[in-house]
Amino acid sequence: MRTVYGVFGDPIAHSKSPDMHNAAFRELDMECTYHAFRVSPEKLKDALLGAKAMGFGGVNLTVPLKQEALKIVSADPLAEGIGAVNTVDFKEGMVGYNTDGLGAKRSLEEKGVKVKGSNVLIVGAGGAARAIAFQFAKDGADITIANRTEEKAIELATGVSAVGSARGCGLDNMKELVADSDILINCTTLGMHPKTEGTIATAEEMHPELTVFDIVYNPLETTLLKEAKKAGAKAVTGEMMLVYQGAEAFKIWTGVEPPIDVMKKAVLEGF
Ligand code: ATR
Repeated sequence: MRTVYGVFGDPIAHSKSPDMHNAAFRELDMECTYHAFRVSPEKLKDALLGAKAMGFGGVNLTVPLKQEALKIVSADPLAEGIGAVNTVDFKEGMVGYNTDGLGAKRSLEEKGVKVKGSNVLIVGAGGAARAIAFQFAKDGADITIANRTEEKAIELATGVSAVGSARGCGLDNMKELVADSDILINCTTLGMHPKTEGTIATAEEMHPELTVFDIVYNPLETTLLKEAKKAGAKAVTGEMMLVYQGAEAFKIWTGVEPPIDVMKKAVLEGF
Protein backbone atom coordinates (compact mmCIF):
# COMPACT_ATOMS: atom_id res chain seq x y z
CA MET A 1 0.00 0.00 0.00
CA ARG A 2 1.28 3.45 -0.89
CA THR A 3 1.98 5.98 1.86
CA VAL A 4 -0.17 9.06 1.31
CA TYR A 5 1.08 12.64 1.60
CA GLY A 6 -0.81 15.80 0.77
CA VAL A 7 -1.30 19.53 0.82
CA PHE A 8 -4.24 21.12 2.65
CA GLY A 9 -5.48 24.60 1.71
CA ASP A 10 -8.32 26.63 0.24
CA PRO A 11 -8.15 27.39 -2.66
CA ILE A 12 -6.00 24.40 -3.57
CA ALA A 13 -6.93 23.38 -7.15
CA HIS A 14 -3.91 25.10 -8.73
CA SER A 15 -1.29 23.84 -6.26
CA LYS A 16 1.87 22.61 -7.98
CA SER A 17 2.88 20.52 -4.96
CA PRO A 18 1.23 17.24 -6.08
CA ASP A 19 3.04 17.27 -9.46
CA MET A 20 6.30 18.18 -7.77
CA HIS A 21 6.23 15.51 -5.03
CA ASN A 22 4.76 12.75 -7.21
CA ALA A 23 7.52 13.33 -9.76
CA ALA A 24 10.10 12.90 -7.00
CA PHE A 25 8.42 9.74 -5.62
CA ARG A 26 8.32 8.25 -9.14
CA GLU A 27 11.95 9.10 -9.83
CA LEU A 28 13.05 7.42 -6.58
CA ASP A 29 10.70 4.43 -7.02
CA MET A 30 9.08 5.15 -3.66
CA GLU A 31 5.72 3.60 -2.79
CA CYS A 32 4.19 6.99 -2.01
CA THR A 33 1.57 9.33 -3.44
CA TYR A 34 0.72 13.02 -2.85
CA HIS A 35 -2.69 14.70 -3.27
CA ALA A 36 -4.30 18.13 -2.79
CA PHE A 37 -7.17 18.45 -0.29
CA ARG A 38 -9.49 21.43 0.12
CA VAL A 39 -9.65 22.13 3.87
CA SER A 40 -11.07 25.20 5.67
CA PRO A 41 -9.47 26.54 8.89
CA GLU A 42 -12.51 25.30 10.90
CA LYS A 43 -11.89 21.75 9.66
CA LEU A 44 -8.10 21.75 9.98
CA LYS A 45 -7.96 19.90 13.30
CA ASP A 46 -10.32 17.16 12.11
CA ALA A 47 -8.44 16.90 8.82
CA LEU A 48 -5.05 16.55 10.55
CA LEU A 49 -6.33 14.00 13.08
CA GLY A 50 -8.04 12.10 10.25
CA ALA A 51 -4.91 12.08 8.12
CA LYS A 52 -2.82 10.84 11.04
CA ALA A 53 -5.40 8.16 11.89
CA MET A 54 -5.37 6.97 8.28
CA GLY A 55 -1.60 6.62 8.25
CA PHE A 56 -0.63 9.60 6.09
CA GLY A 57 3.11 10.19 6.04
CA GLY A 58 2.77 13.95 6.40
CA VAL A 59 1.11 17.04 4.94
CA ASN A 60 1.95 20.51 3.73
CA LEU A 61 -0.28 23.41 4.71
CA THR A 62 -0.91 26.49 2.64
CA VAL A 63 -3.21 29.54 2.66
CA PRO A 64 -5.29 30.02 4.87
CA LEU A 65 -4.15 27.29 7.30
CA LYS A 66 -0.54 28.03 8.22
CA GLN A 67 -1.29 30.18 11.29
CA GLU A 68 -4.26 28.10 12.48
CA ALA A 69 -2.02 25.02 12.60
CA LEU A 70 0.01 26.49 15.48
CA LYS A 71 -2.99 25.91 17.77
CA ILE A 72 -3.13 22.23 16.83
CA VAL A 73 0.35 20.78 16.26
CA SER A 74 3.56 20.93 18.34
CA ALA A 75 5.53 23.48 16.37
CA ASP A 76 9.34 23.54 16.34
CA PRO A 77 10.89 26.79 17.66
CA LEU A 78 11.43 28.30 14.20
CA ALA A 79 7.80 27.74 13.11
CA GLU A 80 6.69 29.07 16.50
CA GLY A 81 8.71 32.27 15.97
CA ILE A 82 7.44 32.69 12.41
CA GLY A 83 3.91 32.06 13.64
CA ALA A 84 3.12 29.67 10.78
CA VAL A 85 3.46 25.98 9.92
CA ASN A 86 3.79 24.71 6.33
CA THR A 87 4.82 21.11 7.01
CA VAL A 88 3.38 18.57 9.45
CA ASP A 89 5.12 15.29 10.20
CA PHE A 90 3.12 12.44 11.72
CA LYS A 91 5.94 10.12 12.83
CA GLU A 92 5.70 11.16 16.50
CA GLY A 93 2.46 12.93 17.29
CA MET A 94 1.94 15.92 14.98
CA VAL A 95 5.04 18.06 14.67
CA GLY A 96 4.91 21.35 12.74
CA TYR A 97 7.76 22.92 10.77
CA ASN A 98 8.16 25.91 8.49
CA THR A 99 10.42 25.19 5.51
CA ASP A 100 9.65 28.38 3.52
CA GLY A 101 12.69 30.33 4.76
CA LEU A 102 15.00 27.37 4.16
CA GLY A 103 13.53 27.15 0.65
CA ALA A 104 14.54 30.77 0.04
CA LYS A 105 18.00 30.18 1.49
CA ARG A 106 18.69 27.16 -0.71
CA SER A 107 17.40 29.06 -3.78
CA LEU A 108 20.11 31.66 -3.18
CA GLU A 109 22.84 29.20 -2.25
CA GLU A 110 22.17 27.25 -5.45
CA LYS A 111 23.21 30.41 -7.30
CA GLY A 112 26.37 30.74 -5.23
CA VAL A 113 24.96 33.48 -2.98
CA LYS A 114 25.94 33.22 0.69
CA VAL A 115 23.34 34.20 3.29
CA LYS A 116 25.52 34.07 6.42
CA GLY A 117 27.13 37.44 7.10
CA SER A 118 25.19 39.18 4.28
CA ASN A 119 23.19 42.37 4.58
CA VAL A 120 19.71 41.32 3.50
CA LEU A 121 16.94 43.79 2.66
CA ILE A 122 13.52 42.14 2.84
CA VAL A 123 10.69 44.22 1.37
CA GLY A 124 7.28 43.26 2.78
CA ALA A 125 6.11 42.10 6.19
CA GLY A 126 3.53 39.38 5.39
CA GLY A 127 3.80 35.62 5.80
CA ALA A 128 6.63 35.07 3.31
CA ALA A 129 8.68 37.93 4.78
CA ARG A 130 8.24 36.49 8.27
CA ALA A 131 9.50 33.04 7.24
CA ILE A 132 12.54 34.41 5.40
CA ALA A 133 13.41 36.99 8.06
CA PHE A 134 13.42 34.46 10.93
CA GLN A 135 15.36 31.83 8.97
CA PHE A 136 17.96 34.24 7.59
CA ALA A 137 18.49 36.00 10.95
CA LYS A 138 18.95 32.59 12.59
CA ASP A 139 21.51 31.75 9.88
CA GLY A 140 23.60 34.82 10.63
CA ALA A 141 22.42 37.41 8.08
CA ASP A 142 21.96 41.05 9.06
CA ILE A 143 18.30 41.81 8.28
CA THR A 144 16.53 45.02 7.32
CA ILE A 145 12.77 44.75 6.82
CA ALA A 146 11.18 47.56 4.79
CA ASN A 147 7.41 47.69 4.42
CA ARG A 148 4.76 50.07 3.05
CA THR A 149 3.12 49.96 6.49
CA GLU A 150 6.19 50.80 8.57
CA GLU A 151 4.75 49.65 11.92
CA LYS A 152 4.42 46.11 10.59
CA ALA A 153 8.10 46.11 9.58
CA ILE A 154 9.16 47.34 13.01
CA GLU A 155 6.96 44.79 14.78
CA LEU A 156 8.38 41.94 12.68
CA ALA A 157 11.96 43.15 13.20
CA THR A 158 11.39 43.24 16.97
CA GLY A 159 10.31 39.58 16.89
CA VAL A 160 13.20 38.56 14.65
CA SER A 161 15.69 40.32 16.97
CA ALA A 162 15.14 37.43 19.40
CA VAL A 163 17.05 35.11 17.03
CA GLY A 164 19.44 37.50 15.26
CA SER A 165 20.10 40.97 13.95
CA ALA A 166 17.12 42.89 12.49
CA ARG A 167 15.63 46.37 12.09
CA GLY A 168 12.43 47.63 10.48
CA CYS A 169 11.60 50.74 8.43
CA GLY A 170 9.33 52.19 5.76
CA LEU A 171 9.89 52.28 2.00
CA ASP A 172 11.39 55.80 1.78
CA ASN A 173 15.09 55.92 0.92
CA MET A 174 14.97 52.73 -1.13
CA LYS A 175 18.17 53.74 -2.89
CA GLU A 176 20.10 54.10 0.38
CA LEU A 177 18.65 50.87 1.75
CA VAL A 178 19.61 48.96 -1.41
CA ALA A 179 23.07 50.55 -1.51
CA ASP A 180 23.75 49.09 1.96
CA SER A 181 22.53 45.60 0.96
CA ASP A 182 24.06 42.49 -0.60
CA ILE A 183 20.72 40.77 -1.15
CA LEU A 184 17.32 42.33 -1.91
CA ILE A 185 14.25 40.09 -1.54
CA ASN A 186 10.78 41.02 -2.73
CA CYS A 187 8.20 39.54 -0.35
CA THR A 188 5.35 41.79 -1.51
CA THR A 189 2.78 40.98 -4.17
CA LEU A 190 4.10 43.81 -6.39
CA GLY A 191 4.77 42.58 -9.92
CA MET A 192 2.48 39.55 -9.61
CA HIS A 193 0.09 38.70 -12.44
CA PRO A 194 -2.10 40.51 -13.57
CA LYS A 195 -0.45 43.79 -12.43
CA THR A 196 2.99 42.81 -13.70
CA GLU A 197 4.32 46.37 -14.08
CA GLY A 198 4.77 46.83 -10.31
CA THR A 199 8.28 46.78 -8.80
CA ILE A 200 9.75 47.56 -5.37
CA ALA A 201 12.94 49.00 -6.92
CA THR A 202 14.32 50.20 -10.26
CA ALA A 203 17.72 49.64 -11.90
CA GLU A 204 18.81 53.13 -10.84
CA GLU A 205 18.39 52.12 -7.19
CA MET A 206 20.49 48.94 -7.60
CA HIS A 207 24.21 48.16 -7.89
CA PRO A 208 26.09 45.40 -9.78
CA GLU A 209 27.18 43.52 -6.62
CA LEU A 210 23.56 43.10 -5.56
CA THR A 211 21.58 39.84 -5.71
CA VAL A 212 17.86 40.34 -6.31
CA PHE A 213 15.50 37.52 -5.37
CA ASP A 214 11.80 37.81 -6.24
CA ILE A 215 9.52 35.33 -4.51
CA VAL A 216 6.80 36.21 -7.05
CA TYR A 217 6.97 33.50 -9.76
CA ASN A 218 3.98 34.42 -11.89
CA PRO A 219 5.45 35.71 -14.21
CA LEU A 220 8.84 34.03 -13.80
CA GLU A 221 10.69 37.10 -15.02
CA THR A 222 9.14 39.96 -13.05
CA THR A 223 9.69 43.67 -13.67
CA LEU A 224 11.95 43.69 -10.59
CA LEU A 225 14.19 40.98 -12.06
CA LYS A 226 14.32 42.79 -15.42
CA GLU A 227 15.46 45.90 -13.55
CA ALA A 228 18.07 43.82 -11.72
CA LYS A 229 19.50 42.58 -15.03
CA LYS A 230 19.59 46.15 -16.36
CA ALA A 231 21.65 47.14 -13.31
CA GLY A 232 24.05 44.21 -13.82
CA ALA A 233 22.84 42.60 -10.57
CA LYS A 234 22.26 38.86 -10.10
CA ALA A 235 18.59 37.90 -10.59
CA VAL A 236 17.10 34.86 -8.80
CA THR A 237 13.60 33.64 -9.77
CA GLY A 238 10.99 32.64 -7.21
CA GLU A 239 9.96 29.16 -8.36
CA MET A 240 13.01 27.63 -6.69
CA MET A 241 11.68 28.68 -3.27
CA LEU A 242 8.61 26.55 -3.98
CA VAL A 243 10.81 23.64 -5.06
CA TYR A 244 13.19 23.85 -2.10
CA GLN A 245 10.50 24.35 0.57
CA GLY A 246 8.96 21.16 -0.85
CA ALA A 247 12.31 19.40 -0.90
CA GLU A 248 12.87 20.25 2.78
CA ALA A 249 9.40 18.87 3.66
CA PHE A 250 10.21 15.72 1.66
CA LYS A 251 13.41 15.26 3.69
CA ILE A 252 11.59 15.75 7.01
CA TRP A 253 9.03 13.08 6.09
CA THR A 254 11.22 10.51 4.37
CA GLY A 255 14.80 11.22 5.44
CA VAL A 256 15.69 11.19 1.73
CA GLU A 257 17.11 14.10 -0.33
CA PRO A 258 14.74 14.35 -3.32
CA PRO A 259 15.84 14.94 -6.94
CA ILE A 260 15.69 18.75 -7.22
CA ASP A 261 15.88 18.85 -11.03
CA VAL A 262 12.94 16.48 -11.39
CA MET A 263 10.87 18.57 -8.95
CA LYS A 264 11.81 21.79 -10.72
CA LYS A 265 10.86 20.35 -14.11
CA ALA A 266 7.47 19.27 -12.73
CA VAL A 267 6.82 22.79 -11.38
CA LEU A 268 7.90 24.52 -14.60
CA GLU A 269 5.76 22.23 -16.76
CA GLY A 270 2.75 23.78 -15.06
CA PHE A 271 3.58 27.27 -16.40
P1 ATR B 1 2.20 36.91 2.01
O1 ATR B 1 1.58 36.15 3.14
O2 ATR B 1 2.18 36.16 0.69
O3 ATR B 1 3.57 37.42 2.33
P2 ATR B 1 0.61 39.23 2.66
O4 ATR B 1 0.60 38.80 4.06
O5 ATR B 1 -0.67 39.62 2.01
O6 ATR B 1 1.26 38.16 1.69
O7 ATR B 1 1.67 40.44 2.53
C1 ATR B 1 1.74 41.23 1.41
C2 ATR B 1 2.87 42.22 1.57
O8 ATR B 1 2.95 42.97 0.35
C3 ATR B 1 2.68 43.23 2.69
O9 ATR B 1 3.93 43.50 3.26
C4 ATR B 1 2.14 44.45 1.95
O10 ATR B 1 2.41 45.69 2.57
P3 ATR B 1 1.42 46.28 3.74
O11 ATR B 1 1.80 45.57 5.00
O12 ATR B 1 1.73 47.72 3.79
O13 ATR B 1 0.03 45.97 3.29
C5 ATR B 1 2.91 44.37 0.66
N1 ATR B 1 2.27 45.07 -0.46
C6 ATR B 1 1.15 44.71 -1.12
N2 ATR B 1 0.88 45.59 -2.10
C7 ATR B 1 1.87 46.54 -2.06
C8 ATR B 1 2.15 47.72 -2.81
N3 ATR B 1 1.35 48.13 -3.81
N4 ATR B 1 3.25 48.45 -2.47
C9 ATR B 1 4.06 48.05 -1.46
N5 ATR B 1 3.84 46.94 -0.71
C10 ATR B 1 2.76 46.19 -1.00
